[in-house]
Amino acid sequence: MQLRFFVAIALMSIGLVMCAPPERSPSGFRLPEGDAARGQETFVALKCNACHPVQGLNLPAPVADPPVPVVLGGSIDYQPTDGRFVSSIINPSHKVGRYPAELVESGGESRMADYSDVMTVRQLTDLVSFLHSRYTYTPVRPH
Ligand code: HEC
Repeated sequence: MQLRFFVAIALMSIGLVMCAPPERSPSGFRLPEGDAARGQETFVALKCNACHPVQGLNLPAPVADPPVPVVLGGSIDYQPTDGRFVSSIINPSHKVGRYPAELVESGGESRMADYSDVMTVRQLTDLVSFLHSRYTYTPVRPH
């Protein structure tokens, strides 16, 4: 009985931590259509390639020191979505942790630059279209 009570409290606490407040919900989010070719130009114009190589493309090589271990594009086992790409671009610190911290973080924040004051909405939508064009979704099959 006591154990069940403990498990219930633990599950409730996890639920509270994981649920964002309703006003921060991505529900209703719809990005306008972008242009992948223009997105590739934007990628170079905004110097995204200073840190990221893109699989299958021969863009000017990254110059970041130490190198950023984040290659964009290729085959991934999770659904690429507008939401993921937009969050990665405008809020890169929100999921710090998938890569070795010493290579992707500086002072607890992502090393990725803050584009809030330099990127237009068109550049953002074009970048998202460009990224979609570079990824293939390959779901992991159950064994
Ligand atoms: C100064 C280096 C730097 C620059 C410049 C940079 N990024 Fe990043 N980027 C990072 C790092 C570091 C991460 C890993 C984020 C993390 O987990 O902290 C990242 C992550 C990403 C991701 C998520 C990839 C994944 O597999 O999770 C995308 C998409 C991305 N960047 C796109 C861009 C775009 C588009 C630009 C240009 C507008 C850009 N980046 C410019 C350093 C950079």
